[in-house]
Amino acid sequence: MEKKKILTGDRPTGRLHIGHYFGSLVNRIEMQNSGEYDPHILIADVQALTDNFNNPEKVRKNVKEVMLDYLSVGIDPEKTTIVIQSMIPEIAELTVFYSNLVTIARLERNPTVKTEIAQKREIFGESVTYGFLGYPVSQAADITAFQGKYVPVGEDQLPLIEQCREIVRKFNSIYGEVLVEPEAVLSKAKRIKGLDGNDKMGKSLGNAIYLSDTPEEITKKVMSAVTDPNRIRKDDKGNPDVCMVSYYHNLFTSKEDCKAVCEECKAGKRGCVACKKQLAQNIIDYLAPMREKRKYYEDRPELVDKLLIEGTEKGREDAKETMRKVRHAMRLDYFDV
Ligand code: TRP
Repeated sequence: MEKKKILTGDRPTGRLHIGHYFGSLVNRIEMQNSGEYDPHILIADVQALTDNFNNPEKVRKNVKEVMLDYLSVGIDPEKTTIVIQSMIPEIAELTVFYSNLVTIARLERNPTVKTEIAQKREIFGESVTYGFLGYPVSQAADITAFQGKYVPVGEDQLPLIEQCREIVRKFNSIYGEVLVEPEAVLSKAKRIKGLDGNDKMGKSLGNAIYLSDTPEEITKKVMSAVTDPNRIRKDDKGNPDVCMVSYYHNLFTSKEDCKAVCEECKAGKRGCVACKKQLAQNIIDYLAPMREKRKYYEDRPELVDKLLIEGTEKGREDAKETMRKVRHAMRLDYFDV
């Protein structure tokens, strides 16, 4: 049976944290290892530039960091095709052609884009760039270039997939049935709160543990996690339901130990410091194999480059094939080249 082609992507604007891990990486690894899929991951540097155009060095650096994160968690380039978006010029070509098939009003109504524009006032002020407003068009090109049928995403990405489907339908109705209409597959991902209880996790918020953090960094971050504000003295009875340390224990600590931690906290028998130390150690142990694997690849930059080049070349073959069909359908195949 032919394997189902799936496509996912990340903007390389920072190293990946445990929110990314539980939110999408676990799911990708599971799909990769099930053998049922032909997974593709796009390192979306062109998309990252839409809101980081003034910081190209940051994007460049993070392409490598994100690749190291993928390798360290067990994304296997033998099974998953990893490509760098900007090195597939067909995506840029498709973006131009698709831009005729979507209105400005439709892009302005896209809920994901709308939310992001509101969040990025400090970058765009009152007037958003053409490139940022149009990134859903470029993402439609990402997906269709590889004829991706399934797109495993979190809920925030659904409006982008819907926009892609509209573009595909419009393209196919005007030029002929060429493009594959993708389907979003909602991942059973967990959305993890930051160590401060914030729903969003990120570098600027300082509330994220990165997959590549050192044991010292992990300990420091865990020690600053938000606990039950009503618990002042060590023998006060605590409420684990409002404690981020307890929330994180549930992710990294065995069921048995979690139960013990909870009961001792409620009885006022366990202090927050001891509880945090135990959590920090569990996170350190959990991430240790990833840290080790990362180190292996960090020490072999030529190997990492080779894997990126090979993945991109492989992915480009699909994109070239799509481009050939698209040019033919759009009456742009003037010469046999
Ligand atoms: N927009 C996605 C994000 O911000 C990243 C992305 C780029 C993507 N191209 C994609 C996701 C194609 C799925 C398919 O997370």
